Amino acid sequence: MWKGRFSQPTSALVQRYGESVSFDHRLYPHDIRGSIAQSKALLKAGIITAEEQSAIENGLNGILADIQNGKFEWREDLEDVHMNIESELTRRIGAAGAKLHTGRSRNDQVALDVRMYCREEVGQIIAALREMQRSLVECAERHPNAVLPGYTHLQRGQPVLFGHHLLAYIEMFERDVSRLSDSLKRINVMPLGSGALAGSTILLDRELVAKELEFPAITQNSMDAVSDRDYVAEVLFAIALCGVHLSRLSEDVILWVSAEFGFVSLSDAHTTGSSLMPQKKNPDVAELTRGKTGRLVGNLMSLLTLLKGLPMTYNRDLQEDKEPLFDSVDTIKAALAVFAEMMAGLTVKEDKTRAATSDPMLLATDLADYVVKKGLPFRQGHEVIGKLVAFSIAEGRSFSELTLDEYRQFWTGFEQDVFAVLDVETALKARKNPGAPSPDNVSAQLQRWRKALGA
Ligand code: ARG
Repeated sequence: MWKGRFSQPTSALVQRYGESVSFDHRLYPHDIRGSIAQSKALLKAGIITAEEQSAIENGLNGILADIQNGKFEWREDLEDVHMNIESELTRRIGAAGAKLHTGRSRNDQVALDVRMYCREEVGQIIAALREMQRSLVECAERHPNAVLPGYTHLQRGQPVLFGHHLLAYIEMFERDVSRLSDSLKRINVMPLGSGALAGSTILLDRELVAKELEFPAITQNSMDAVSDRDYVAEVLFAIALCGVHLSRLSEDVILWVSAEFGFVSLSDAHTTGSSLMPQKKNPDVAELTRGKTGRLVGNLMSLLTLLKGLPMTYNRDLQEDKEPLFDSVDTIKAALAVFAEMMAGLTVKEDKTRAATSDPMLLATDLADYVVKKGLPFRQGHEVIGKLVAFSIAEGRSFSELTLDEYRQFWTGFEQDVFAVLDVETALKARKNPGAPSPDNVSAQLQRWRKALGA
């Protein structure tokens, strides 16, 4: 493609080192669509005739069909997806093909392709996140009455409904959807016409190209347009954070299935055995997801590090943007799909979670609230109940096993109604402020999500 200036062929090592077609071939649908739009702009500018434009369009569609049918041979010596397609087009249709690249550089071409790839994949990741949210709603709805301890510091804190715990993840995934949707505003800007870095003296109608390719806006600075990969960084960040959310859920599931917790069981189809220990049933999906999140974070770091030292404008370093991007997209889509399926096969062992939740200490905060409602300032109330906790532990008797007289040793304001506080259902029902886990709130939230998600 640049034979004019060169008298030596590219070294075989350089060719192998610099090729990107082995991974960027997946951009072909966007590359072809972008080239068809480009040909329409060339026609409007009078660079090619209507016959040439339709030869280009038909030729490209033929190549598209061949690629889709596995009949296209990608050549490493043609370096990347762009040159493979253009060179094959020229081989097929001759002179008209050689006019396609007028006023265009691979620098704006690749920027266009990657933007189109990102916008399509972002849409698919959002759809996968919606599936995941639906799966969580359904999982919660299968266990409307399941209670479990809520933890801080991995120490039992206060009782919650299982559904409330899952709803926390639904909220996280909603923010992931929102971040990805927001990134579309910045992805969806059309860079073609920026040329190598300074546009072109051949004036193509950029608005026409944008319209053809369904971009609501065009880039406003040619130098920025060929070197900007902010949108890739944003997508990688949104994916990495989504991975972090999935990884935290993974950790919960891994704890929950352990014999020590024994809160849930997973279907056989979503667990694996051990080649040595016959009794094992391992939560590999959750472990792999927790592990793969490392790659997602790493891919974001790779890209940010890649960008930080680049002088304006395009530098070949930018070719290194694609593998992290493709890897993160593939990884998060696979993780969301398998996780949604796994959660559909998750069963809460409600007797176990109820037994854990019947730990009377979980209601210590409710006792503190009780004395506050009876008029004691919270800080003093906290101390009173703290002493009561120590007494209960020393006595080896739970709160409900203490007598009213014993309660009164710590504060004279206790009355018989204190014992009504010592019930998990009462404690949950009382938490009815917005966002808190009363059964009414949780079922209203689940209903809201069910409606929003069409679950
Ligand atoms: N394969 C290149 C990339 O992915 C395309 C752009 C090449 N441009 C260039 N001036 N060598 O970035």
